[in-house]
Amino acid sequence: MDKIVIEGGLTLSGEIKISGAKNSAIKLMAVCLLTDEPLELTNMPNLRDTRSMGELLASLGVSVKTENDASRMTLHAKTLSSTTAPYELVRKMRASFNVLGPMLAREHQAKVSLPGGCAIGARPVDLHLDALKALGADIELSEGYVYAKAKGGLVGANITFPFISVGATEHTMLAAVLAKGETVLNNAAREPEIIDLADCLNAMGAKITGAGRSEMRIEGVTKLKGVSYAVVPDRIEAGTYALAAATAGGSVRLLNVRSEHLGALWPLIAKAGTKVTMDENSVLVERLGTPILPVDVETQAYPGFPTDLQAQFMAMVSLADGVSVIRENIFENRFMHCPELVRMGANITVKGREAIIRGVKSLKGAQVMATDLRASASLVAAGLAAEGTTEVLRVYHLDRGFEHIEVKLGNCGARIKRVAE
Ligand code: EPZ
Repeated sequence: MDKIVIEGGLTLSGEIKISGAKNSAIKLMAVCLLTDEPLELTNMPNLRDTRSMGELLASLGVSVKTENDASRMTLHAKTLSSTTAPYELVRKMRASFNVLGPMLAREHQAKVSLPGGCAIGARPVDLHLDALKALGADIELSEGYVYAKAKGGLVGANITFPFISVGATEHTMLAAVLAKGETVLNNAAREPEIIDLADCLNAMGAKITGAGRSEMRIEGVTKLKGVSYAVVPDRIEAGTYALAAATAGGSVRLLNVRSEHLGALWPLIAKAGTKVTMDENSVLVERLGTPILPVDVETQAYPGFPTDLQAQFMAMVSLADGVSVIRENIFENRFMHCPELVRMGANITVKGREAIIRGVKSLKGAQVMATDLRASASLVAAGLAAEGTTEVLRVYHLDRGFEHIEVKLGNCGARIKRVAE
């Protein structure tokens, strides 16, 4: 497996073009199951996760074609040859579980492997299944699989989520668009990826109102048509590079960004001593010789501070002039980057859901690895700022969610390369 090798200690300077959002793209790909016409997705990121989703869709009989360095993908589910999503494919990526709802909506039956836990937490799918049951599905669990049926089709319902779940909100939308009658979702997630999904579905003829608000309404339709749709820019990728620039220092302009999607990050990164200047389509992030200041953060559902930037924020404040406290409220086990940052010289103590970070003057390069992609990105940022050589192992994780990370950072003057082990 490849590793990323970084010679740290240089500031960054240059421009980075942000790709389409991974966490939107993989759900938009599942949309193709809802229509027998072609769905063209543009501004697609070229990632391991989008390829895994393509593999799963192909196994169901979908024609999957990629062009332009995979930034354009055409998915055509004229007919489905199978309604079974096997464990070998679902285990590669949890979000592929979301093919259950669309298959149930279109074929009135599906068999999909339960995704299982993952490194950042148990991550059950009870909310997904409860919502599908509310839409009239019969669900049985057996030998690690969900067997779902909806004789006569799904029927709209009033659903209140007990807490906010991005995946359950999206999954219910994917099922309810073709249900009979109206579905009301209360306590829905409000992430930009939810709006992206609703915008794509509406362009295909769905009737969704209120996406981006807690209450969403979906008036079921009988058919959706094909469309060409551009994936929203990746706010987490943009936030990651902004934090990398803040950690290593320097001046980086992020292009193809929707800065309003990072409303919770900008004031905090500014408080930490980094200057942020926005215009319509780009954001300039600068820390030129000024110290990093300590900042407390807690993760929340959107529009709060994203859990997917928590590790990267921690890498930054591990070099701050003082003590920061970071609280992780979304996932119960998302501090696995802490021991790795400590191996690089950071001073971090974890107590339950809180990490106390006492800033140090410098980090030292080391061999490190992480068990999820955002944690891996935090180690890359720490490596850029550290003295000496850092090797980030298990690049597999980075490749799931960051397109050409070594090229994008290398273009900003970082000494970073991918090496085959
Ligand atoms: C999405 O995961 C993202 N993944 C995650 O990004 C992101 O961290 C998360 O939303 C929160 O923003 C994708 O979009 C593919 P949730 P999701 O359902 O949908 C619990 C990354 O690095 N829960 O909002 O799985 C769950 O365990 C990934 O790109 C239940 O208990 O997140 C968690 O504690 C990591 N039962 C909380 O809710 C359920 O049925 C929020 O999870 C569903 C969720």
